[in-house]
Amino acid sequence: MHTIIEPFRIKSVEPIRFTTREERETALQGAGNNVFLLHADDVLIDLLTDSGTGAMSAAQWGALMQGDESYAGSRSYYRFESVVRDLTGFRHIIPTHQGRAAERILFHNILRPGDLVINNTHFDTTRANIEVEDAEARDLVIEEGKIPGFIHPFKGNMDLVALEKTLAQEGDRVRLVMVTVTNNSGGGQPVSLENLRSVREIAHRHGKPFFIDACRFAENAYFIKMRESGQRHRTPKEIAQEMFSLADGCTMSAKKDGLANMGGFLALNDDAWAEACRNLLILTEGFPTYGGLAGYDLEAIAQGLVEVVEESYLHYRIHSTAYLANKLDEAGIPTVKPPGGHAVYIDARTMLPHVPPLEYPGIALVNAMYLEAGIRAVEIGTVMFGTHPDGTETPAAMDLVRLAIPRRLYTQSHIDYVAEALIEVARGKSALRGWKITRAPKALRHFTAQFQPVA
Ligand code: F0G
Repeated sequence: MHTIIEPFRIKSVEPIRFTTREERETALQGAGNNVFLLHADDVLIDLLTDSGTGAMSAAQWGALMQGDESYAGSRSYYRFESVVRDLTGFRHIIPTHQGRAAERILFHNILRPGDLVINNTHFDTTRANIEVEDAEARDLVIEEGKIPGFIHPFKGNMDLVALEKTLAQEGDRVRLVMVTVTNNSGGGQPVSLENLRSVREIAHRHGKPFFIDACRFAENAYFIKMRESGQRHRTPKEIAQEMFSLADGCTMSAKKDGLANMGGFLALNDDAWAEACRNLLILTEGFPTYGGLAGYDLEAIAQGLVEVVEESYLHYRIHSTAYLANKLDEAGIPTVKPPGGHAVYIDARTMLPHVPPLEYPGIALVNAMYLEAGIRAVEIGTVMFGTHPDGTETPAAMDLVRLAIPRRLYTQSHIDYVAEALIEVARGKSALRGWKITRAPKALRHFTAQFQPVA
């Protein structure tokens, strides 16, 4: 049998709403031509993000009823802590309401103006939480990772030569070395165990702590199992445990590989850092045994972290993402290759060569997909990454459009529909025009910027 089927059946369903093209035109205009500002009810298939949008299992819904809502010392916290510790091995486990809260608490405590944080590629909230401390976020992913069509098994790997050089030349400024698994902003690409081992060795030789941005650790572990020599016989959980064992700490959004709708954590070994982080947590998130989460959230995450490393789930997850990528590939639509774990990334700059990067080819494609078929995707390109702290704007390294696949949510026929819609958009691509920004906030502008077509 080679059909990959969903390793679950559906117990509960939620209707989705069909709209006409006219309704979508009105809705998009009303949203300032930014799909982030749409009402979700006006979206048929929502591929904006895989974050917090997945379907929970019957066991997770059951676990919700086990939630202990005690303010301090809740039983649900101890269950959560034991699952996270079993997986990561870290000494201190601090729940937060989502991943960026863990980032904010960590960076606010450890960064001083002028400090430098190195990562393969910082996610946007990670970068923003560093820059808000007047520190620098520098991306050192391997060169292969920046070429969308280039096939490489671990395009999320850190450039070890560049890391070594940066530490030798600017080591005084470097506060932390991080690796994001999988590398979301670089196409959801995995990082090899070998690379993680080397990053740890280099960072530690220079006396720098090494943290993992672990949002999609299970998908990364599965890629290691499939692609890295000598790893086939291991379970995804064993691989994940080794990944974490190499690091001094991690930030985690449980909205991804926690299979939960909300939550996250910061986990680390350093006692002094942990104490400072817990003190800030109390100020902004809550008491250290709930950190902005309900007891039932902690239960859902604990159960999700058990399910996410199951082999049958990861097999289906990685192959169903590749299924969409292959369909687009067959139709000649340029994508980041090989496909990532949680999303298919379309290379909008290559697909729409007549739209210059500063007229946002990613937005041109995202808006066309919505108008064509009610599908919502997200630009990961010049709108998201093009501005700099000094206020200037330059094209991002790539102009990608991400079709993020929520976990366990859509069936294969939904995905077939997405592929058909994209093929239709690609047919009419020469008519797609660029966009200009008419209003935008200073930071994280992609969430709320308003657009107008270029005349
Ligand atoms: N790090 C990475 C690699 C992420 O992808 C995200 C979120 C975060 C940190 C922050 O976590 O949302 O729980 O605060 N990514 C989502 C996305 C939003 O759509 O890729 P959060």
